[in-house]
Amino acid sequence: MEAQDHNPAKALWRYHAPAQMDQVQLAMWTELLEKRTGICLAESRKSFLLTSLSTRMRELGYDSYDAYFQYLTEGRRGVVEWEILVDRLTVHESRFYRDQRSLALIQDQFLPELSSKLGSRKNKEKSSIDIWSLGCATGEEAYSLAMQVDDFMLRKTLNSYYSITASDISSASLSTARKGVYHINRLKNVPANLLNLFFTREDENHYRVVEKLRERICFTRLNILYLSRARLGMMDLIYCQNVLIYFKRRHRYAMLEQMVKHLRPGGLLILGAGEISDWRHNEMQPVNYPGTLAFRRIHGNTSYE
Ligand SMILES: C[S@@+](CC[C@H](N)C(=O)[O-])C[C@H]1O[C@@H](n2cnc3c(N)ncnc32)[C@H](O)[C@@H]1O
Repeated sequence: MEAQDHNPAKALWRYHAPAQMDQVQLAMWTELLEKRTGICLAESRKSFLLTSLSTRMRELGYDSYDAYFQYLTEGRRGVVEWEILVDRLTVHESRFYRDQRSLALIQDQFLPELSSKLGSRKNKEKSSIDIWSLGCATGEEAYSLAMQVDDFMLRKTLNSYYSITASDISSASLSTARKGVYHINRLKNVPANLLNLFFTREDENHYRVVEKLRERICFTRLNILYLSRARLGMMDLIYCQNVLIYFKRRHRYAMLEQMVKHLRPGGLLILGAGEISDWRHNEMQPVNYPGTLAFRRIHGNTSYE
């Protein structure tokens, strides 16, 4: 069926449970998702797929999965529609200061080591600290990293430059991240002194990240399946949490290989503690810090520099 009803209000009153999907259709949709994002949707998440698809289809007035699939995979309208759908099919759950152990590792090891190395770097570009938050969702992770670094520099009266690249596949999430406005309930984990330093009150229930912090972060759309094509420089820290778990092992390995290539020697790769269990790389040394999964690049070429 062609899209007939573009009026969401009109489409909503026709609510009904998602239509059933046969095995052939299910295979078609999961293959499309995996081919375009790398995300492997387990059979157990079929109801999530059906609910997400049928909600979007209702908004557009489609009642057939096949017709919507055709719309999505043909022409320019399909490209635009995919941008919207991919946001619905990915999980964007995030929190400020979500992984306290990994942040403690940054505080205790990464920042002190790096601040002593910065002075010895030869050119100005290399005297900056470059961080990448990969799969940043709505920005909480990138802002937590920025607060950590900024606060460290303030306390140590360092004036080195730092920048954070924060990437995600979801344009909608990135747009929320760029605004930097969060409901007060989402800020519970932010230490009170940092809340005062880095947020201003927007209204009764919302706080906004201060400009000084927002301008250090570049939120950008990037599909981690195609990291080899990404135009990114070398990083001192790559932080990738709660992302790889959605991918098949071969995709995880390929993504990690690309991350290694973007790390400066001595740089840290911090993953979520359960992100991958058996990964080893001859240029990466495991970092022994309780409750974390982290690796240091011990050598290797610096072709992106
Ligand atoms: C559960 S969130 C993790 C957010 C944050 N890293 C954290 O731990 O709080 C996973 C994020 O990965 C993103 N993602 C999924 N597939 C992706 C892909 N192929 N390329 C880039 N980002 C992707 C999703 O859009 C989502 O925002």
